[in-house]
Amino acid sequence: MDFSELTRISSVFTHSRILQVGVKLGVFDLIKKDGSSSLEISKALSTNPRATELLLNALVALRILRKKRDRFHNTNSSLKYLVKTSPEYFGGMITFEEALWNTWANLEKSIRSGKPARQTDMYQKTEVETERFIMAMHSLVNARGDARILSDMLDFSRAKTMIDIGSGPGTYAIKFLKRFPHLKITILDLPGTLKITKKVLKKEGVYGKIELLECNYNSGEIPKGFDIAFLSNIIHSENEEANQKLFRKVYRSLNPGGEIIIKDHILDPTLTSPAVGALFSIHMLLTTKGRDYSFRELKGWLIGAGFKKVRWIRLKPPLTSSLVIGRK
Ligand SMILES: C[S@@+](CC[C@H](N)C(=O)[O-])C[C@H]1O[C@@H](n2cnc3c(N)ncnc32)[C@H](O)[C@@H]1O
Repeated sequence: MDFSELTRISSVFTHSRILQVGVKLGVFDLIKKDGSSSLEISKALSTNPRATELLLNALVALRILRKKRDRFHNTNSSLKYLVKTSPEYFGGMITFEEALWNTWANLEKSIRSGKPARQTDMYQKTEVETERFIMAMHSLVNARGDARILSDMLDFSRAKTMIDIGSGPGTYAIKFLKRFPHLKITILDLPGTLKITKKVLKKEGVYGKIELLECNYNSGEIPKGFDIAFLSNIIHSENEEANQKLFRKVYRSLNPGGEIIIKDHILDPTLTSPAVGALFSIHMLLTTKGRDYSFRELKGWLIGAGFKKVRWIRLKPPLTSSLVIGRK
């Protein structure tokens, strides 16, 4: 690695923080079509004028905003991803990461102790926390297009029933239903999360068309009778033992010939590549009992649970995850 790359890595947290504060303050929503001065923005936000101008200049330096004379303008990207009313609004994820800033400050403690830096409660303590977490997933998947890409790529025309385990906002279930309207989909999740799921389903006009099932997949049993079990971004929050137990439950819940579809960062045997997965394992160390796993690990657990024809399907950028599929 050369020195400039090292200095970039060393200071990139400043970029994240500047972006997070811009989103948290709602800077991008305030900028008018013909641009806004820093004074107009600081007045609307009741922030310090000098400090606000420095923040806006830094956002221009990061090429998130543009500056013409003394007026600041949104770029195509900030309009698409950082303005709340955009369908591809990515601010939900940025706001969630901003709320984890102090958790990341405890990384050294977690490396020393091996323990998470916060409660591993999947953000179920308050509705505000749950909503921030769940809408982060929704905003990431909508901005990047994961659910749309998968609903075009996977063929569920022959499946009749699907369970989306840990569906969160239901982003995938909604897209799958729109693409395959004959599918009988059940969303399984924790009660706190399902309150938020309901709001999303209502907004998307599919409330009542998808069954909602309150269940803790660790302590409860998954009902039987499904052709597809979909698990997106679930196994990285659980440890090795819990995942093996979960795979056995999923196997029991599937019809003969049914498939488990796991979507996650899947690592190579060195556990260092793709980089996004190795880095995400640190996020999981801080906030859960899990980490990212390799295909070799998943294959062993799936075969141990009874699955056959286990395969790994790599997804193309901008997606950063892969699919692992096994058949009962
Ligand atoms: C990281 S989110 C993934 C959401 C969605 N599948 C996606 O990929 O965007 C994890 C989801 O699993 C749910 N979850 C976590 N632990 C659970 C448990 N023990 N039982 C049921 N659901 C759980 C959370 O409430 C959350 O909705």
